[in-house]
Amino acid sequence: MTILFRFIMIFTLFVIPIAHASPWNDLSAEQLESQLKTKFVEGKYSSKGADSCLMCHKKDTKVMAIFSSTHGLLDSSKSPMAGLQCESCHGPLGKHNRGGKEPMISFGSESKLSSDSQNSICLGCHESDKGNGWHSSMHNLEQVTCVSCHEIHTSSDPALSLEGTNDLCSSCHLQEKADMNMRSSHPLKWGDMSCIDCHDPHGSNNEKSLNTTSINTTCYSCHADKRGPLLWEHAPVTEDCTSCHNPHGSVNDNLLKQRAPLLCQQCHMDDGHASRITNKPGIDAFGSGRSCLNCHSQIHGSNHPAGSNFSH
Ligand code: HEC
Ligand code: HEC
Ligand code: HEC
Ligand code: HEC
Ligand code: HEC
Ligand code: HEC
Ligand code: HEC
Ligand code: HEC
Ligand code: HEC
Ligand code: HEC
Repeated sequence: MTILFRFIMIFTLFVIPIAHASPWNDLSAEQLESQLKTKFVEGKYSSKGADSCLMCHKKDTKVMAIFSSTHGLLDSSKSPMAGLQCESCHGPLGKHNRGGKEPMISFGSESKLSSDSQNSICLGCHESDKGNGWHSSMHNLEQVTCVSCHEIHTSSDPALSLEGTNDLCSSCHLQEKADMNMRSSHPLKWGDMSCIDCHDPHGSNNEKSLNTTSINTTCYSCHADKRGPLLWEHAPVTEDCTSCHNPHGSVNDNLLKQRAPLLCQQCHMDDGHASRITNKPGIDAFGSGRSCLNCHSQIHGSNHPAGSNFSH
């Protein structure tokens, strides 16, 4: 090892962490939260706005990237930059610039602040567009923060791009990630469709944060041909598409949770129905992959006058 290299090693191992250790690193979450609250109430904002922050923070390229983001624009009177600038998210400067003695509001998984406190900053401006379903959503109740999904100091927030969204959601939702890569799935893995075609990431008043009032209305929004009313309806179809399909993916064709006959026998008795049907020589109506569907091919229901058993 050259001396220079060794020096760099030591430098990166010891010096950088120390340089970055801020005085408030040792505070407990409660202490930090109460300090920030006091500071917020005192409300000592800087008179120079972002300029005062940039005196110390402009070398951080991540910090500077805010100026190429929506929040860095001056085009709206509601924009942070038209108001308190950096301090509209990070709270008043107070004595933070005096030797870095006072903490600022920070965000993300590294932050010791509770998710409620972090989110309240964002909701301060976004309550009317995002607050509605959010408060009762699983994401809010399970302490997911706005910043678990959104990046602020960037020109391209991954949550706002189609491919980015699926990666983002499946980074936490491992079961759905596995499902969407199975043999049969909605075209999610290619980014032709995304989780938010069916779900509202900010929560909704519908079960499982679906975009529409029920599972079936969600499916009908794209599969309109499956919507009735039909002359002969198959009860589970009109009630809940997911009694047979897994919307995220399956090892079976057509997103089916199970293959026939097992699929059907969850609800229909294995009552010797087969014995009542004349087997034509060479054709085993039950043995092949389609099984019950060989005869009951109109499984979603039928408009045929003689379709009562879904064979026409
Ligand atoms: C006199 C220099 C100085 C000024 C001016 C300054 N900061 Fe800092 N800031 C620091 C230092 C030092 C740290 C701690 C080390 C680090 O994380 O880089 C820090 C950390 C931060 C952090 C991270 C907090 C954390 O807990 O990780 C944020 C956010 C921040 N500053 C925002 C601001 C904002 C917003 C302004 C302007 C209102 C500002 N700073 C002004 C020196 C300064
Ligand atoms: C709309 C809210 C918002 C505004 C405005 C904003 N920030 Fe941030 N800042 C954040 C969030 C959220 C993070 C956490 C990192 C991320 O996800 O982008 C962050 C992170 C930081 C950090 C820690 C960076 C690091 O490298 O970890 C500093 C320092 C900082 N901001 C300073 C500033 C300064 C200086 C300004 C003004 C020029 C500013 N911020 C404006 C929301 C904001
Ligand atoms: C001072 C007000 C203010 C604060 C605080 C604020 N925002 Fe915004 N945000 C805006 C404005 C203004 C826009 C521009 C679009 C609009 O009118 O909704 C915006 C846009 C956005 C967008 C869409 C970005 C785009 O490129 O279209 C997202 C996502 C967002 N904010 C998330 C957040 C998050 C997360 C936080 C908290 C860390 C936050 N905002 C804090 C005012 C704010
Ligand atoms: C689970 C991930 C996730 C969380 C958590 C989340 N968002 Fe979003 N957000 C998204 C996605 C994906 C989009 C883009 C699609 C859309 O508009 O719904 C988006 C879009 C937005 C937009 C801009 C587009 C619009 O609909 O106006 C704003 C503003 C926004 N989010 C704010 C917030 C705020 C504020 C919070 C916290 C209270 C938050 N988000 C929490 C994923 C998330
Ligand atoms: C930071 C981790 C995280 C990210 C990223 C995330 N989620 Fe979640 N999500 C959770 C947690 C935690 C829960 C609650 C426990 C559970 O159901 O797994 C949840 C629950 C859900 C639920 C069930 C809601 C209900 O009402 O029962 C849906 C649907 C959902 N998330 C969709 C999404 C979508 C769509 C995205 C991407 C835009 C996303 N999630 C991104 C963590 C995350
Ligand atoms: C075609 C519509 C559709 C798409 C696309 C979709 N979902 Fe769902 N999701 C549903 C339906 C319907 C349910 C409720 C029924 C069920 O759980 O099978 C659900 C349930 C969930 C649940 C709750 C599971 C539970 O057991 O409570 C989570 C979490 C979830 N989805 C996450 C995601 C994620 C992440 C993506 C993207 C990778 C995604 N979904 C894509 C329709 C969809
Ligand atoms: C946003 C539109 C959209 C929604 C909502 C939607 N689908 Fe789909 N669905 C598609 C697309 C696109 C395909 C792929 C069609 C193709 O490959 O020709 C598909 C294919 C399917 C397939 C055939 C899969 C295969 O392997 O061939 C089934 C089954 C299916 N969807 C069931 C459902 C169910 C059940 C729901 C409700 C939970 C639903 N879909 C909601 C768009 C949607
Ligand atoms: C009783 C079980 C069952 C229910 C409930 C069900 N399906 Fe199906 N679905 C099937 C079977 C079995 C297939 C495969 C058909 C075949 O192989 O002929 C299928 C195939 C599909 C296909 C792909 C082939 C096609 O017909 O376009 C779509 C799309 C579909 N179903 C959507 C839906 C929707 C939407 C609902 C709810 C309204 C629903 N299914 C409810 C059993 C069901
Ligand atoms: C989730 C439960 C469920 C599943 C799964 C299911 N069915 Fe049904 N099926 C029903 C119910 C409920 C009825 C209505 C029974 C009645 O009206 O007496 C019905 C009716 C029928 C009928 C018409 C009976 C009649 O005389 O009205 C046929 C045929 C049928 N199902 C075939 C199938 C086949 C084939 C499958 C598998 C592809 C299947 N079903 C899967 C619940 C289910
Ligand atoms: C070879 C063709 C054929 C196959 C394969 C077949 N069915 Fe049938 N099924 C019929 C016919 C024909 C009827 C009407 C019989 C009647 O009215 O007596 C019927 C009637 C039914 C009924 C109405 C109630 C009853 O028992 O009369 C149900 C439910 C049903 N089948 C379910 C199934 C299931 C589940 C499977 C797969 C395990 C299956 N069928 C396989 C031809 C078939």
